[in-house]
Amino acid sequence: MKNKLDLLEIIDLEVNFHLDEGLVKALKGVSFSLGTNETLGVIGESGSGKSVTAQSILGILPQPPSIIRKGEILYDTGKERLNLLELDEESYRKIKWKDISIIFQEPMSSFSPLHSIGDQISEALITHYQGMDIKEVLDKCYETLSKVGIPQPKKFFERYPHEFSGGMRQRAMIAMAIICNPRILIADEPTTALDVTIEAQILELLDQLRNELNMSMIYITHDLTVVSDIADRIVVMYLGTIVETGSVEEVIDHPVHPYTKALLRSIPRIEHSEEELQPISGSIPSPFEVFPGCPFYSRCEERIEGLCNIENPVAKSLNKDHSYVCHLK
Ligand SMILES: Nc1ncnc2c1ncn2[C@@H]1O[C@H](COP(=O)(O)OP(=O)(O)OP(=O)(O)O)[C@@H](O)[C@H]1O
Ligand SMILES: [Mg+2]
Repeated sequence: MKNKLDLLEIIDLEVNFHLDEGLVKALKGVSFSLGTNETLGVIGESGSGKSVTAQSILGILPQPPSIIRKGEILYDTGKERLNLLELDEESYRKIKWKDISIIFQEPMSSFSPLHSIGDQISEALITHYQGMDIKEVLDKCYETLSKVGIPQPKKFFERYPHEFSGGMRQRAMIAMAIICNPRILIADEPTTALDVTIEAQILELLDQLRNELNMSMIYITHDLTVVSDIADRIVVMYLGTIVETGSVEEVIDHPVHPYTKALLRSIPRIEHSEEELQPISGSIPSPFEVFPGCPFYSRCEERIEGLCNIENPVAKSLNKDHSYVCHLK
């Protein structure tokens, strides 16, 4: 769906990993867009390509073993449309944190244990706003730490990541991600390492910050309930492809793809509390496996032999808010 308000548009992205064990086609032609002030939920089981998509946008794919084979990632700066895949390192540095930033699943892997939280949070600010004096930098850091719910930000600033609980560290990671007021925030499973109460708080904080700072957000998760709370639109991924996309209401209330339907049956939902939960049958094929037809064929309860295992399904639109890739319908 092309829309002049799109901030980010990913077109037909293909990413391969060349490993000693064989070739992994991590993204097999992924296309979607993100609108201004929109939250896009990206959902799918492990290995579906969610993180590889995020890493491609941020230019942080490990190279080697990854190779981007094909595609474009267009970012509208307000003045021009840049293809992020064509940027050199220096140009990427200019947009990272300031235009597009990311929160990872486990903040310990993003923070260095050797430097104080304050040093690390202020670094992004100093890189992008070189004219700021030390007092301005400190004030902005304290203000941002308060904004993400950290009490006593001045004390917090001096201390080291390992001195804090997972929830507090994740708040610090969020502070680092928003300190330059980015236009796009990518959250890659930011709450999976946290307990349920803290998860709800972080989710609420991100939603509130997105509104307050007029950001657009890509929220990556395994959990459809989380997506339905926070997102405007959903992208459902399976084995490196998008199988269904649409507004939250459309996809949750009228899912078409058997994979989306199976995902919905596998999670507890308040309105269906009496229904028995059904895990998705079968297991995800090995990423090294190459087979023709639909990627979900081997686990699909509605598969048509002789069609789904032979021909690749093409994208179809149910309406302007909803499309899917399946031979059915
Ligand atoms: N650094 C890497 N080296 C080799 N293969 C990788 C690497 N990163 C990802 N892959 C492969 O790419 C595919 C997509 O992985 P990705 O991490 O994007 O999945 P995901 O949807 O984020 O899963 P999860 O929910 O477990 O985080 C997988 O088959 C994975 O094994
Ligand atoms: Mg991931």
